[in-house]
Amino acid sequence: MKVGVPKETRAGERRVALVPDLVQRYAKLGGEVIVEHDAGKASFFLDVHYREAGATIAAGPAELYADADFVLKVQRPQDEEIGSIKSGTALVALLQPLSNIDLIKQLADGGVTSFSMDAIPRIARAQKMDALTSQSSVAGYKAALVAADALGKHLPLMMTAAGTMPPAKGLVLGAGVAGLQAIATARRLGAVLEAFDVRPAVKEQVESLGATFIEDEVVSDEAEDAGGYATELSEDHQRREQEMIHRHVRDADFVITTALIPGRLAPLLVTEEMVADMKPGSVIIDLAAETGGNCAMTTPGESVLVGDGVLIHGPLNLPSEMPIHASQMYARNIFSFFEHLVQDGELKLDFEDAITKDACITHEGKIVQEATLAAADAAAG
Ligand code: NAI
Repeated sequence: MKVGVPKETRAGERRVALVPDLVQRYAKLGGEVIVEHDAGKASFFLDVHYREAGATIAAGPAELYADADFVLKVQRPQDEEIGSIKSGTALVALLQPLSNIDLIKQLADGGVTSFSMDAIPRIARAQKMDALTSQSSVAGYKAALVAADALGKHLPLMMTAAGTMPPAKGLVLGAGVAGLQAIATARRLGAVLEAFDVRPAVKEQVESLGATFIEDEVVSDEAEDAGGYATELSEDHQRREQEMIHRHVRDADFVITTALIPGRLAPLLVTEEMVADMKPGSVIIDLAAETGGNCAMTTPGESVLVGDGVLIHGPLNLPSEMPIHASQMYARNIFSFFEHLVQDGELKLDFEDAITKDACITHEGKIVQEATLAAADAAAG
């Protein structure tokens, strides 16, 4: 089986889906690896490293796609790539199928068996394949650094001959994977942290990282579904949460928001009125920018200075700014998934298996994943 790794074409994407260390592990499973020229360059993995590890280098995308049976990617294919993927190819990428129905239809029509790394269920057995977790953890870390960099203050307490400066105060809203990593990183830099999440289960984790969990009546067992994910709050509940947040953002030097409800627009946590009440020089990093933002004043993909000087960042791809480790982690996730799918050097799909069932989006000319099929039917009216 020929495993192909194209160079990512989406603007700003610096990650790569395979790192040289893993070439031999694919070989052991019967995968002969072909890497497009310079596919790893933006993440500092050079052709020579892949070649030394036993891979073949393809001169360009046309050669790569013509040869590969199994294509590993980070981003979903762009329009100019789709036509190059031959029928019968297996493709793995972060497809975000529910928001890219047209692309999914094209993949089905083109006879591509596609798998989406963001559709792998968050169950214990799939932890090694969980790219959402690995990449969110990178994003949380980087968000704390971006906040530290943008702030005109030190994060730690500084006692100097020129005076004593208190530590910066941070507020993290949403304490899932990204939020907890942001707390851990900002704490290591010396900031004092408060955090809030609607799921009471995370209180202990927040406290174990040295942050204060904001106790509030807004926290409730009802805010968590059976799978451990947050559910949408009622209007009244949401209003009370906003009032509570308002009291805390006033005091914060930086706010990192990461609140997510799967399959929905990001909940609005920081309103325009709250931003107006923040101190000049404070910073908001809104990780939920791609799904609408947790802050009303976020512009996705941009940094904007508003009011009396509150800087709001809406980054869309922080993992790409940490390309070495983000690629290593993603490449391990995707390799574990490959191990799961391949037996005796061939792709063996078992649709009774929860991981394959959730992650396989198109197969044999059809959309096969239930949620994507429902979304495609709804889009067709
Ligand atoms: P997660 O599901 O692990 O955590 C989200 C947390 O938000 C959960 O703990 C949930 O209980 C909490 N939450 C939901 N509604 C809330 C509310 N109303 N108030 C307070 N907390 C609430 O998700 P993960 O993996 O940590 O990702 C967080 C966000 O970061 C997502 O929007 C994700 O798309 C985004 N992300 C952004 C990146 C970027 O570069 N911009 C990169 C990676 C992730």
